[in-house]
Amino acid sequence: MAIKTPAILGGSPSVTADHAVNCQWPVLDEQDFLQVRKVMLDGDISTHPIRYELEDAYAQLFNQKYALSHNNGTSALFASFFALGLGAGDEVLVTSATWWSSVLPMLWLGAVPVFCECETENLGISVADMKNKLTNNTKAIVVVHLWGMPSKMHEIRQFANQHNLNIIEDASHAHGASIDGRLCGSFGDVSVFSLQGDKLSPAGEGGMLLTDDYGIYEKALCFGDVSRIYSLDTPAQRFAATSFGIKTRMAPLSAAVGLSQLKKLEQHNQCRNDNIEYISKSLETMGFDTYLGSERYHRTYFEFLIKWKPECGLQQQTLIRALNAEGAAITAPRYPMLHQQPFFVEGEWNKLARIENGLNRYPYSQVSLPVTEAESRLMIRLPHFSTATQDFLDQYLDAFDKVLLNAKAIAAKFK
Ligand SMILES: Cc1ncc(COP(=O)(O)O)c(C=O)c1O
Repeated sequence: MAIKTPAILGGSPSVTADHAVNCQWPVLDEQDFLQVRKVMLDGDISTHPIRYELEDAYAQLFNQKYALSHNNGTSALFASFFALGLGAGDEVLVTSATWWSSVLPMLWLGAVPVFCECETENLGISVADMKNKLTNNTKAIVVVHLWGMPSKMHEIRQFANQHNLNIIEDASHAHGASIDGRLCGSFGDVSVFSLQGDKLSPAGEGGMLLTDDYGIYEKALCFGDVSRIYSLDTPAQRFAATSFGIKTRMAPLSAAVGLSQLKKLEQHNQCRNDNIEYISKSLETMGFDTYLGSERYHRTYFEFLIKWKPECGLQQQTLIRALNAEGAAITAPRYPMLHQQPFFVEGEWNKLARIENGLNRYPYSQVSLPVTEAESRLMIRLPHFSTATQDFLDQYLDAFDKVLLNAKAIAAKFK
């Protein structure tokens, strides 16, 4: 069979079907509308008890005693840091390739992120590197299940227990992912989900904090849910007039969407997983590492990133360009390394943390994470294929196939 000419060399593009139809998200329907309508007709759009229904649904699904809804995932993380008692000069082990919310809120409490490498299988925080970064000030670890790939929680928990560290589990990307059948979001001393509109169980804006520890739950509630402090029957009720200076309550209309979407999580995940696994299996045969997950680590797909192989003969940017010419929506990874951001390297962070001599004690401009940086350079990002047809998936595979078979000619023209 003749090799087809890739679009970048003058051939016809492979991907002609509409991305808006094949990668629709969120998938909202009549049920979501009716749930929102009910809250509106009830009339209480500020403190409607639908928030409690959403909390109960999360607590039950993730097998946690307490769930506390928030106005977004960032607030839920902030509340987690506060509730664990993190404060001035405490160090928290974190990864760099994550959304800023997993890290920055701790600075308002005076706690300092210490960036660690990721491991290269699941891209979670590296236990080996955490050992290097441990000091007498280390108090906690933030675990992020990046893009929906479960971090290696058993090893991380063992390390945390050995050194008396708390785990904040940021499961924002990983609704429905599991390890040995246990759902992500149930491993932390406190676990958090973002319910922002791109997430696997979206509410529009929203966050959920989960814990088995009443003390943590109560502190998080006192932090920012002022209307509920009144009804506590513990000494913490004395904070009812003030909270701790912030407001984190979730909007009921978002909670309505969140509750309705949570009921469809399994069905939605199944579509993404089926479609992406189909693509991944073919891409693996072409030499890409697609982070397929394993029997032990069942992953979900907030986003779909694969590891590009330099052996394919194309530079990362040329590969992306050639695939774009095919009509494929391929990009470089979305998250810049946090440790390289001006906020850290220019010392702005210490305007929040106010650590004495902080800029000398934590010179972020000198932080180097060669493994994380190299991994990130090897990634390319594909769409999530949430509502893709078989044709659309095959068009993508055709695009990859064509570009790789013509790699030499493309490389020669686009050096
Ligand atoms: C890993 C991670 N954690 C936390 C958040 C923060 O969530 P939110 O946008 O709901 O504040 C996000 C948001 O994208 C995220 O990707």
